[in-house]
Amino acid sequence: MDVLALNSSPNLDKGGTGLMLEAFLGGLRDAGAAVELHYVYQLTVRPCLGCFDCWLKTPGACRQRDDMQALCPKIVASDVLVFATPVYADGMNGPMKTLIDRCLPLLEPFFEIRDGHCRHPVRPWVKPGKVALVAVCGFTELDSFDPLLAHVKALSRNLGRQFAGALLRPYAAALPDLERMGVPVADVCEAARRAGRELAEQGAIRSETAAAVSRELVRREVYVRAVNARFRRALG
Ligand SMILES: Cc1cc2nc3c(=O)[nH]c(=O)nc-3n(C[C@H](O)[C@H](O)[C@H](O)COP(=O)(O)O)c2cc1C
Repeated sequence: MDVLALNSSPNLDKGGTGLMLEAFLGGLRDAGAAVELHYVYQLTVRPCLGCFDCWLKTPGACRQRDDMQALCPKIVASDVLVFATPVYADGMNGPMKTLIDRCLPLLEPFFEIRDGHCRHPVRPWVKPGKVALVAVCGFTELDSFDPLLAHVKALSRNLGRQFAGALLRPYAAALPDLERMGVPVADVCEAARRAGRELAEQGAIRSETAAAVSRELVRREVYVRAVNARFRRALG
């Protein structure tokens, strides 16, 4: 199984996205998957020009010359595509959205009705693989991920890929602090690793495992007080 993981956190492997993703990819590797990871902030991916040359003049190829030229063939060939992003303004962050916009060459210009919805046919050389989402956010409520989850499910359908599940970790940045406060958090990363193994071995992430990744670590009121105290200290 070839897994292509894209992490769009500007904090690369040091952030909450990186923490969850590393555990998840560890599980995939444990189960024998070949994993390739790219940090979107280290790539040059310019915004789509909206020219439709990739449909009409050079079918399947964008006219821009940047890192998407090398990345697109990897996306096309992957069995599992993992989008890993922090929630920014209630959705995926800008660099990840820019990269996904640049996947337009993978679709044909024609319209078809697929799964009861108007879509573009996926080019024949694009593997009908799977998509998984790894996302973290700052707030405590799981519904902070609702717009992102709906978005990634929709784009999976448009790319002709099956959505295999999501690991959603609220207040992920607080995990190290919570651990220092004596709150047990190791099980969250263990569950993320288990999710990777499940995806490789069973083809999807079990809902119990996803729930274990998202579980409440402290009561919301306790967390809000701790965060505010931290910000007050930082502001002096
Ligand atoms: C520009 C910006 C917008 C953000 N918007 C949201 C938001 O809408 N909802 C939320 O819960 N967290 C939001 N956050 C918090 C991040 O999701 C959170 O800090 C996350 O842990 C960062 O992940 P990282 O450590 O992998 O970079 C935002 C952060 C930034 C920098």
